[in-house]
Amino acid sequence: MEVIIRPTKFDAAMLAARLLAEKIRKKPASVIGLATGRTMECVYPKLVDFHRNEGLDFSLVRTFNLDEYIGLPPEDKNSYRHYMNHHLFDHVNIDLRNTFLPDGMAEDVELACAQYEEKIREVGGIDVQLLGIGRSGHIGFNESLSALKSRTRAKALTPITIEENSTLFDKPEDMPRRAITMGVGTILEAKSIILLVTGDTKADILAKAVEGPITSMVSASAIQLHEHCHVICSADAAEQLEGADYYNWIFENEPEWESYR
Ligand code: GLP
Repeated sequence: MEVIIRPTKFDAAMLAARLLAEKIRKKPASVIGLATGRTMECVYPKLVDFHRNEGLDFSLVRTFNLDEYIGLPPEDKNSYRHYMNHHLFDHVNIDLRNTFLPDGMAEDVELACAQYEEKIREVGGIDVQLLGIGRSGHIGFNESLSALKSRTRAKALTPITIEENSTLFDKPEDMPRRAITMGVGTILEAKSIILLVTGDTKADILAKAVEGPITSMVSASAIQLHEHCHVICSADAAEQLEGADYYNWIFENEPEWESYR
């Protein structure tokens, strides 16, 4: 794992977007795992910008989102399908048929989850998975005690997640209490991972995820098991990282980061 600390949330998002863009340039038919949430709202405009101004080509890219609320149809403005169309897909040359999210309206949720896993396998797995982190330590919607080997399934959301996300709904009580999410095991099978964390409200959980023990109480800590994982964070989110000086030294001195400084 490498931790990269950037001065602001915009610098952090820019670095995450550049790493994703580089992956797509190297492999135009990349399979990209995508995340939603406020943190990612700084990333997608950069990708749109790279598409418009630098010709970043999404025509062969396939995407799989981490999660979707159960009970929200795609046209609902709080659904993650709507989020993705609005923030990214509507503004780049991606074929919408190559964009996948779990089906929150599925009659048979278990079957829909199994089919989602199958689809990921069919395209050869995810090349790079973008992740955010919830204050509960979740990645996707893998709330505390999610098995580290879990697969795509329905999950009940914790009170802290409901408190965090219900403010995005016109009527907070309308926020679904359950969601379909890729499992921690599904996420760990991605060939590489970028975890993006910004804001001082995430400082405590980021330190637990990166420097604490691997525990299902903090699902994000499972990324410590991954061989190709970049954690990109803003300075305020990094405030509680004990190894910050070391992480900064690596970013400032290792040749692989030269073009990103
Ligand atoms: C959301 C998503 C996660 C996201 C996290 C953080 O609800 N399910 O994939 O990473 O919670 O969201 P935010 O960036 O808004 O803090």
